[in-house]
Amino acid sequence: MLKSTFLLLFVSWASANVHERLQLLQVYPQTDEERFYLEQLKNEHDVWYSSEDRYDVLLTSSNINWLLSSLQKRGIASAIVNDDLDRDIKEEFERLSKNELFFDYDDFNNLTSIYQEMDKIAAKCIPGFVCAVDIIGTSVEKQPIKRLKISKNVANRKVIWLDATTHAREWLTTATTFKIMKHLQDKYKVDPTVTSMLDKYDWHIIPVVNPDGYIYTWKGSRLWRKNRSINSKPTCPGVDLNRNADSAWGAVGASADPCSETYRGPSVASEPETQALQKHIKSLGSNIIEFISLHAYGNYWLIPFGHLDDATKKCYVAPDAAETLRVADAAANAIEKVFNTKWKRGPSCNTIYPNSGGMIDYAKAKAGVKYTTVPEVRGNGFIVPPAQIEPSFKEIWAGIVASIGAIEKKPFLDIIQELKSQ
Ligand SMILES: *[C@@H]1O[C@H](CO)[C@@H](O)[C@H](O)[C@H]1NC(C)=O
Ligand SMILES: *[C@@H]1O[C@H](CO)[C@@H](O)[C@H](O)[C@H]1NC(C)=O
Ligand SMILES: [Zn+2]
Repeated sequence: MLKSTFLLLFVSWASANVHERLQLLQVYPQTDEERFYLEQLKNEHDVWYSSEDRYDVLLTSSNINWLLSSLQKRGIASAIVNDDLDRDIKEEFERLSKNELFFDYDDFNNLTSIYQEMDKIAAKCIPGFVCAVDIIGTSVEKQPIKRLKISKNVANRKVIWLDATTHAREWLTTATTFKIMKHLQDKYKVDPTVTSMLDKYDWHIIPVVNPDGYIYTWKGSRLWRKNRSINSKPTCPGVDLNRNADSAWGAVGASADPCSETYRGPSVASEPETQALQKHIKSLGSNIIEFISLHAYGNYWLIPFGHLDDATKKCYVAPDAAETLRVADAAANAIEKVFNTKWKRGPSCNTIYPNSGGMIDYAKAKAGVKYTTVPEVRGNGFIVPPAQIEPSFKEIWAGIVASIGAIEKKPFLDIIQELKSQ
C-alpha cells in the first residue's frame, strides 16, 4: 500500500515534470481595478503585451493554476491561447536547422547569415547609389552592430533611419527590414514609389540593434528580451535596451530591478549598444526625416513621448503633438487598408503605458529628430510562422511610405493599390 502510494506520487511528480512547459495566457480586464491588479504581474512575470483590454502573460504550466484561480476569484476572464510554446520553439528550430545554405528572405536567419547578406546587398548596390556596411558600435560580447547605408553621397540628403531587434526575441522585425532592403534593391525604376523613396532619401538600416541578445535567442533562449550585460545580480543578466536611453531615464515604466524584463540598466545609457545608437542618431540629427525603430508586437504606430509631465503627473504632451499624431494617423490608416487590420496610434505613454528611456524619445528630445516612431509589428507572440514576414513587410512599407508622404505633405496615393496588386 505504502509502496503503491509512493509509486503513484512518483509517477504524478514525474509526469508533471515531463509536461512542464511554457504557456501564454490572455487576460481580458474590464475595470481599472482589474487593470491595476494585472499591472502588478509585470513585476514578477514576463508580460508580452498589455493594452486596455488585454494582457498576454507568459507562464509555466506548473504556475499557471494559481493565477487562473486568482483571476477566477476576481471574476476576470482569461484564456490560454498557447498551451505549449516549447513545442512551437522546437518546431521553429527544427525548421530553421534545415536551412543550411542560403539566406532566406521568407524565414528567419542567424546573425552570421544576416551580416553576410548585408555585405551581398552592398556589393550589388543599386546603380547610381553608394552602398556601405559600417559598424556603428560593438556590443558587450564584442559583436559588431552593423548598418547598411544606401546613399547618393550628396551632402545633407535626408535620411530614413530604420532599425530592428532592439529586443532580442522580436525576430519578425529583422525579417521585415530585410524585405524592405530587398524591395528597395529590386524595385528601383520598376515601382515608382520605390524610385522616389530612393531618389529623395538615403536609407540607414540596422537589422539587429542587439546582436548579443539575438545570438542568445538562437542558442536556445528564444524568448530573451534584454541584452547580455552582467549586472549587480549575476543570476539576472541583461538590460532592456529600450529603457536605457537618455530620455527621462529612470522615471516611470522602467524597472530598477535587474531581474525585471524592463530593467533600465545601472545608469543612463550604460550599455554600449545604447551609446552606439545615441552617437549616430545625434550626429545625423535633424537630417533624419523619420526615425523608425521596429518592435514586436501588437499593431501599434507609437510616437513620443513615453514619460509623464513632472508637474501634472499625466502623460507629457509635446508642443508639436498634433503634427506628429497627424503623421502617425496617416501611417496607421494606410497600414489598416492593406489587410483590414486595426492599428492603434499615438504617444506611447497613453497608447500603451508610461515608459522612460526609449530610443525614439531620445531621438526626438535629444537629437532633434522631429518624426520618430516605434511600429509594433503584427503577431500574437514572438514565435510567428514565417508566412507572417511578407504581410508584415507590406504593412510596415505602407506605413513608412504614408508617413513620409504625410511629413512631406505629398501623399503617395497609389501605394495601397500597388501593394495589393503585387
Ligand atoms: C547560420 O545560418 C547559415 C545558413 O543560412 C548556416 O550555414 C550556418 O551554419 C549558420 N551558422 C551558425 C553559427 O549557426
Ligand atoms: C548589456 O547590458 C550590459 C549592462 O548591464 C552591458 O554592459 C552590456 O554590454 C550589454 N550587452 C550588450 C550586448 O550590449
Ligand atoms: Zn520591443
